[in-house]
Amino acid sequence: MASSAGAGVCLCGCVGGCATFNKVGTTSAIAPDAYTVEVKTIKVLLDKTPSLASVGGSVKIIDARLPTPVIIGRTGKSTYAVVSLLCPHRGVEVEYRHEDKMFRCASLGHSKFGTDGKLIKGLTKKSLSPYAATLDPTDKNRLVVTL
Ligand code: FES
Repeated sequence: MASSAGAGVCLCGCVGGCATFNKVGTTSAIAPDAYTVEVKTIKVLLDKTPSLASVGGSVKIIDARLPTPVIIGRTGKSTYAVVSLLCPHRGVEVEYRHEDKMFRCASLGHSKFGTDGKLIKGLTKKSLSPYAATLDPTDKNRLVVTL
């Protein structure tokens, strides 16, 4: 089965209906100049990340320097939830669903996770990895994610 460039294929064919042809969700990727990776942190420049400008927005960061790709959801005026991007079931990306206050797998299996990454329901028994995220007290345009 063909898939778009860079996208994986998930054809697990499980009875629970997880099968999908694309492991990539709808979340936009962060711009390369909108973040830095340091020893144990990611620093996100919010003024360069329009998808986080409004509450309910989200962005993903896929970078080989990270232990895992992550997704950031803006949960409130000055609060953010950061979790690992890939569903533990078959590695499909999760998406932030602000209206439901959760991350949900983009596959047909739709495993659901709280904003703290904990599994709510789904085809996996594992949770997503959560990461602490706080606004830099000296620069409110900078979100610091601790890995
Ligand atoms: S990959 Fe199967 S539920 Fe997420």
